[in-house]
Order: sequence, then C-alpha cells, then structure tokens
Amino acid sequence: MTIAAIILAAGRGERAGAGAPKQYRAIGGEPVLAKSVRAFLGHPEISLVRVVINPQHEKLYRKAVHGLDLPEPVAGGVTRQDSVLCGLEALEKEKPEIVLIHDSARAFASQGLISRVIAAVKQHRCGAVPALAVGDTLKKAENLAVVETVSREGLYLAQTPQGFPYPGILDAHRKAKHTDYTDDAAVAEAAGLKVVLVAGEKENVKLTHAEDFRKPAGEVRTGSGFDVHAFTAGDHVVLCGVKIPHGKALAGHSDADAGLHAITDALLGAIGAGDIGDHFPPSEAKWKDASSDIFLKRAAELVKEAGGLVLNVDLTLICEGPKIGPHRQKMRENVAKILAIDPGRVSVKATTTEKLGFAGRGEGLAAQAVATVGF
Ligand code: CTP
Ligand code: MG
Repeated sequence: MTIAAIILAAGRGERAGAGAPKQYRAIGGEPVLAKSVRAFLGHPEISLVRVVINPQHEKLYRKAVHGLDLPEPVAGGVTRQDSVLCGLEALEKEKPEIVLIHDSARAFASQGLISRVIAAVKQHRCGAVPALAVGDTLKKAENLAVVETVSREGLYLAQTPQGFPYPGILDAHRKAKHTDYTDDAAVAEAAGLKVVLVAGEKENVKLTHAEDFRKPAGEVRTGSGFDVHAFTAGDHVVLCGVKIPHGKALAGHSDADAGLHAITDALLGAIGAGDIGDHFPPSEAKWKDASSDIFLKRAAELVKEAGGLVLNVDLTLICEGPKIGPHRQKMRENVAKILAIDPGRVSVKATTTEKLGFAGRGEGLAAQAVATVGF
C-alpha cells in the first residue's frame, strides 16, 4: 500500500513576527521544517514525502532540508487550502492509496501519532484526524463581555497530520476550490466524507506565535565517553583527525585518535547503542590502522536512525603534551564536519594533570567527552 505525506510549508508565518518565516526558524537545534519532515521520512509505512513551499522561500528551503532525501518541492498557493490542493495534484502520478496532510508548523508529531492516523484510515476507509478533547471551559463573548458559557461536551481540538484515502480527498479539495476551510477534515466533511477522530498529543502544538519558539524542544539525552591510549615511539599523534608533530606516537589498533573515540562513545551512550568496541571490534583485522572518522561517522548515522539530532559535543583532552591550543580550532572544524553540525556546537578543551598519574608522567593520553542529542 502506498502512503504519501504532504508537508505544508508555503505560509508566511506572519503571526510569528519578524525574521525568517516560522517553518525555517530553528527549534531544538534544527529548522522547524526539517524536524517535521524527518518524522515522516523516518516512518516505516510512508514511502513518499512531498513538501509544499512558497517559491520565494526556495533558498531558505534548500538550506533547511539539506541532507534530507526529498523530491523537488511543490509550489503552494495563496491560502493553506490552495497549497493542499497543489500538493494533492502533485501526487496524481503516484496515486497513493492514503495521503497524510501535515502542517510543517507542527514540528513535534510523534511516530505513534502518525501510526494512529494511518491505522484509522486503513480500518475505517475514511478520513482520520488526531484531536484533543477540550479541557478548558468555553466562553462566548462579545467585546470581552461574556454572553454564554458553551458546553465543552463532545468538543475537540483538531490537529494534523490528517489522513485520507487519496482519491476521495483530492476530489473533495477540487470541489472545494475557492472556499475557505481551515482544515482538510472540513473539506472532506463538506464533500460528505466520513471523518473519525484518533487521540492527538499535547506536544503536537502548532508553532504560531513568537513565544511558541521559546518552549523547550522535545527530549534531550546525554552520553559520556572516555578513552586512553599509551604513548609509544613515533613522531606524531592524530587527535580529532589533526596530525600533530610530537616526540611520541599513540599506540592502538586503529589510528589511536582518543579524541574521536571518546566522542564516538559519548554519542553511542546518548542513544543507548553500546560502545565503539561493539560496532568496530578490535578483533577484526579490517579496523587495524583505520582512520577514526569512520567510527564517528557511524555513530552519527546511528543517532540519525534513532531519530535524534546531535546538539553539542564537549571534549577534554588530558595530557602533558602535545600542546592542544594551536590545533583546537581545526579539531572543532573536523568534528563538526563529520557530524554535519555547526562548529559552534563542538568544544575541544585540554588540561594537564599537574604531572600526576600516567598522563602526568607522559605515559599516555586520556580523552573524555560529553554529547547531547535532541529528539
Ligand atoms: N500554509 C501553506 N500555504 C499557505 C498558508 C499556510 O502551506 N498559503 C501552511 C503553513 O506553512 C503552515 C500550515 O499551513 O505550516 C498552517 O498554517 P499557519 O499556522 O496559519 O501558518 P502561516 O500561514 O505560515 O502563519 P500565519 O497565518 O501566522 O501567517
Ligand atoms: Mg496562516
């Protein structure tokens, strides 16, 4: 069964105030649009994701979705409803059986929520809308003077993604052209299609006003990593991918880059994915003399597969020598490049142990790292 998703991002985000349109602003360390799109790209039942944009935002769009596997965006229209129709028409060739329509401004739609909507469309062969029962008391007022207290009995707040059999919703939207409904379920209802509700989620808010961007974003997990390598005869060491001339070398199975090893373990720790030895056993000959960026790259992939985003990495190198300071910036840039994040999110620090212990005696070097991953 083909299930497609249309992500609406053609709005101007006027209520969210000055700056880039809200779908291109950052929340939880990445653009709102990227976060919304990832939830659907990562869902096992969805095979096609089309994003509807305002062609004037094309540059912002390309930057926001960089690295995500998406087909060309669809040009939207003046109203949300126009944009949905553009998205639906763009799926004519693929003719999916089910289509989900989602506001990119809802950046926190969970995998469970998406699954519930799909399951309801499949089960009832009709529209499905995630919704929350109204909890507050409802007042009807004129000029702020209350005229009535409205019963909240049976009233729900509708969210997205809203799911529909594709042919039915395409037809309904074509018929509804030039009308002004605020969601797709209303378009479906107007065409006489049945729509059912599934449980929505409180976290699935629509970012609308500037203050919505100050909300803490999702969940943050932390991991730590630690690594030690002994010095041996040689003339240079490799730390965070930077070759540093030194009177000794670091001994190890791979290139002995303790910095990258500690960061790799920190990332694996944050997603509960074991440690570097589980993924790259030292018993396997193929990792001998391996360049450690392979390890870190793999950890970054695993974070991505787990639905996470590396928020920051902080590394401390513990040694009497070599001097780290002159190489620090290059190290940050290397790590940032491997993780595909901004160098501002990578910190590299160094300290001695005042000549105490193995590091102090120059027998070896230690590295310790902390990483945070956002979900
Ligand atoms: N949308 C769209 N095309 C439009 C208008 C809106 O694709 N012509 C999308 C928005 O990008 C958003 C979703 O529809 O993801 C819900 O709309 P809303 O929250 O109202 O966003 P904006 O219209 O962008 O914001 P505002 O109304 O504050 O200008
Ligand atoms: Mg709007």
